[in-house]
Amino acid sequence: RPYKPLRGKKALVTVGATREFIDSVRYISNLSSGKMGMAIARVLRWYGADVTLVTAFTTENPPPEVEVLRVVSAEDMRREVLRLLPQTHLLVMNAAVSDFTPLEKHSGKIKKKDQMILKLTKTPDILEEVARSKGNTFVVGFALEEEEVLLQEGKRKLLQKRLDMLVANPIDVMGSEQHRGYILYPEGKEEVFSFPNKLESAEFIVKKIVEKITG
Ligand code: C5P
Repeated sequence: RPYKPLRGKKALVTVGATREFIDSVRYISNLSSGKMGMAIARVLRWYGADVTLVTAFTTENPPPEVEVLRVVSAEDMRREVLRLLPQTHLLVMNAAVSDFTPLEKHSGKIKKKDQMILKLTKTPDILEEVARSKGNTFVVGFALEEEEVLLQEGKRKLLQKRLDMLVANPIDVMGSEQHRGYILYPEGKEEVFSFPNKLESAEFIVKKIVEKITG
């Protein structure tokens, strides 16, 4: 592709489902496939960006010509994102980060019993931490919400996490081929989209990012 509007830009894309281990063999996670984030990484590369992927568990293979860093937990992802942030022009936080992690991780395998209470604690919100030190980095978040509250919650998260753009998608897109949702901006504008596959969505989203970054 001759059109390379993002040549020279460093992009960091987080992808997939983090895993929070309960003991040596069990974990808490979610249904994220990583399809959306991988598609975004692919399109960013097409458009000339230098792309680093921070990937938690995903069913997808990374696209060609991107650097791949593998992580497991929310805490691992946090560490990598904050480490790379100062050299990043564009952060796309697509990963489905666990909201909770076990308060304690048992070593070995917990024995079977009739009942067990698992205590969970909140994970750090990576985007909220990013907001404190992002400088000029353009930051894109995602929000997966029930249809009825999609726009309302999307707008709230956009502002709370001080994002430059938020992609709000309904929960049925998780793991699915199709994709639809809204792109929200801090100025209050919203754009609706719907595509038969995530690569088309990714092109739509990345074109919007290019418009914002390159003016
Ligand atoms: O608040 P919620 O988890 O719905 O927000 C989703 C956005 O926040 C996503 O972009 C996700 O990657 C990011 N996130 C995060 N740190 C967390 C949880 C979510 O950065 N602990």
